[in-house]
Amino acid sequence: MKIGEIPVGNRVIMAPSTRLRAEPDGRPGEIVAQYYAQRASMGLIVSEGTFPTEASRGYLGQPGLVDDVHQAAWARVASAVHDSGGKIVVQLMHAGRLTHPGITGGREVQAPSAIAAPGTARTEAGKERFPVPAALTTGAAAGIADQFARAAKRAVAAGLDGVEIHAANGYLLHQFLAPNSNQRTDRYGGSPRNRARLVEEVIDAVGCAIGPGRVGLRISPGHDVQGTLEVDPADVVETYGTLVDHVSRAGLAYLSILHDDPEGRLVQGLRHRFAGPLVLNNGFTSVTTLSDACDMLLFAGADAVAVGRAAIANPDLVERWRYGCKLNVPRPQTFYVGGPEGYVDYPRR
Ligand SMILES: Cc1cc2nc3c(=O)[nH]c(=O)nc-3n(C[C@H](O)[C@H](O)[C@H](O)COP(=O)(O)O)c2cc1C
Repeated sequence: MKIGEIPVGNRVIMAPSTRLRAEPDGRPGEIVAQYYAQRASMGLIVSEGTFPTEASRGYLGQPGLVDDVHQAAWARVASAVHDSGGKIVVQLMHAGRLTHPGITGGREVQAPSAIAAPGTARTEAGKERFPVPAALTTGAAAGIADQFARAAKRAVAAGLDGVEIHAANGYLLHQFLAPNSNQRTDRYGGSPRNRARLVEEVIDAVGCAIGPGRVGLRISPGHDVQGTLEVDPADVVETYGTLVDHVSRAGLAYLSILHDDPEGRLVQGLRHRFAGPLVLNNGFTSVTTLSDACDMLLFAGADAVAVGRAAIANPDLVERWRYGCKLNVPRPQTFYVGGPEGYVDYPRR
């Protein structure tokens, strides 16, 4: 099948998964290229969340796509995956308030409103509480779209197959969508229409920069995560309905939805509003199984399934599922630590 302009060999997509193995300057090094190349038999790889500007960096060890050095490193990742027969898009992620000056190189933490997220960031100095962020001015908020677009151009220049815009899981774009983290009174806050506006502007800018057929969007409607709360079901339907209508008009390559009830009313309502390729993932509660994946394809209207932990632990997941083989078990204690262990050492069949 094709996902937008990207031909894919099967419907199993590697879900974006932060692994924190990049070099200190944000370059994805050889080990990152090796990791993704090992997983090239997935229909499409979506990379870990990657920062488009230094101020948007959410983690030490996270890769970026800000400058020529990052771009050259991503070009090596793209070649490694392509040489192994795979396709890869980079997930562009602005952390918003979920970071700390000890991670952004001293740059101020930015968010829709000056409301701190609960919890702590892991800085060089150890765990630090998330600070009260600076509320972006209207002009600065309008500039975010261009930041994503510039990183998207670098992605394509590096030979990657496209980008996924990360508007899920409590990071900046989700912070704009959710009423509790967005208490603005300008054109980016208040009504569902206004809260969806920044994501729509990012979609348009990135689509214009590299063509919408190479752009996906990830959302997690109603996912109360990392302090971002969407507790009013009617508001969720209106906010995400408005946004998904825009995705439809923009002709994006795909819409990716993370939700623990893919067959339920919310996801099915959104599915109805979007005729393009839909990627589903049923959330963090349990590791996606082959049976979950089939259910999403057969009963929830998915065209492809995003698979996280099983793909981390099984470089040859597609073959194992195809032939009904036993799977390696993911080791969560190695998810976010540096080095090869739990990264490039999961055995193939
Ligand atoms: C280690 C780890 C890192 C993750 N990093 C990201 C990320 O960078 N971007 C994102 O959108 N989701 C991220 N997720 C969520 C996954 O994409 C996926 O939705 C989640 O793991 C549930 O799917 P699964 O049951 O197949 O693992 C991450 C999940 C895990 C386990």
